[in-house]
Amino acid sequence: MGERVVLCHKDDLAPGQARRFEVGETRVALVRIGDEFYAVGDRCSHEDYSLAEGEVWEDECEIECPRHGSNLRPTHRGVWFAPGHQAGAGVRGGGHR
Ligand code: FES
Repeated sequence: MGERVVLCHKDDLAPGQARRFEVGETRVALVRIGDEFYAVGDRCSHEDYSLAEGEVWEDECEIECPRHGSNLRPTHRGVWFAPGHQAGAGVRGGGHR
């Protein structure tokens, strides 16, 4: 079983925001959609680019990579919704509070 890590207080991240955290050697993007929190690998599967710097689309439950605009749906464990980006993005967890 994985180790439980506290990244921040829930009020530190507003709905529709994402923020990068370092957990050991791993970059994590914590994404808040409404009152749900999702921890995803903070690296786009296309290039080494931070997802935490992308825009969060709450209505679509997606975060957009700021580099080329691919979208990640953290609720679906890393499925990309853009041509040529079918690989996962190292998503772990989901729904953490
Ligand atoms: S680096 Fe993210 S879509 Fe290209």
